[in-house]
Amino acid sequence: MNQPHSRPRLLQVRDLKKHFPVQKGTLRRVVGQVRAVDGVSFYILEGETLGLVGESGSGKTTVGRCINRLYRPTAGTIEMCIDGTVYDITRAEKEELKQARRHIQMIFQDPYSSLNPRMTIGDIIQEPLVIHRIGTPEERRHRAEELLEKVGLDKDQMNRFPHQFSGGQRQRIGVARALSIAPRLVICDEPVSALDVSIQAQVLNLLADLQDEFRLTLLFISHDMSVVEYISDRVMVMYLGKIVEVAPTDIIYQRPRHPYTEALLSAIPKPGVGTSKDRIILPGGIPDPAHPPPGCTFHTRCLYAQEICRTKEPALVALPDNPDAFVACHRYGELTLRGFE
Ligand SMILES: Nc1ncnc2c1ncn2[C@@H]1O[C@H](COP(=O)(O)OP(=O)(O)OP(=O)(O)O)[C@@H](O)[C@H]1O
Ligand SMILES: [Mg+2]
Repeated sequence: MNQPHSRPRLLQVRDLKKHFPVQKGTLRRVVGQVRAVDGVSFYILEGETLGLVGESGSGKTTVGRCINRLYRPTAGTIEMCIDGTVYDITRAEKEELKQARRHIQMIFQDPYSSLNPRMTIGDIIQEPLVIHRIGTPEERRHRAEELLEKVGLDKDQMNRFPHQFSGGQRQRIGVARALSIAPRLVICDEPVSALDVSIQAQVLNLLADLQDEFRLTLLFISHDMSVVEYISDRVMVMYLGKIVEVAPTDIIYQRPRHPYTEALLSAIPKPGVGTSKDRIILPGGIPDPAHPPPGCTFHTRCLYAQEICRTKEPALVALPDNPDAFVACHRYGELTLRGFE
């Protein structure tokens, strides 16, 4: 959380694109491309939590899935640096890809469908160790017991099945499973969205504690701006497959520079008040990612759009007063936007 500049970059993503073909008819002819991720560049420092936010369909999950190569990117590079060894995730094949993946794990949204109902908790937690052929059966079992206790469950529960646990407990099991092979990067895709609000904080605190203990780096994907504020060192905002703003958490929440970020912040419910009366309702819906608007892709819904926004795409530029903060808006210098108070 402190001195981010002294830390090396664990992940460096450059101009990443992932387009999915749109197919039609019985011959499944390709009639277009969904630009799910359309040229994003960012880094994640070792040991930090980068929050990734944006409305449904903005491309968050696709970014996560490209990083661990569940999807093969259409273009761009993803480099991961582990103790001086650089893995080119975009180009790695077979053994090199397996080596790279050894350092990356995922935690998913749904703790019901992400755990195999026919496996015991012990086997679920040990599975990544088995896949990567790490340790003897006895060592794996010992590791699973240790992790079960770390996530706040009892090691006597090793032989039980997922249905015998609550949603919050299942997500703890998902966390234990992700940590069994001692990954360096954990991609959390909406890890608490399916949980009751009262349980969310417990799982978030657990993640934060384990992050310190195991020196984890987290990419934390969520559409919940309050959850992201709580857990992230920096926050990255995506809209229609592009990054519109990225900055240290306190800066982006106090003084957003992109109108889309301002709208997202205005929608955070306030304690005692519920949904804020100052909430900015963006006109229209998210455009079709197969036919993104020209210029700034946000201009069709932006309250501040001018002629240039309709024709010229804004670059993601560093703010003059803060080299860690970036925004892609033609008008950021003239606008004073409202943060989250
Ligand atoms: N396998 C796929 N094939 C075709 N289109 C896809 C595929 N996966 C995602 N998309 C499309 O890519 C875009 C981005 O989807 P993605 O799931 O990455 O968004 P997201 O930000 O994670 O949304 P959510 O908040 O709903 O999880 C969407 O328009 C989606 O329909
Ligand atoms: Mg998603």
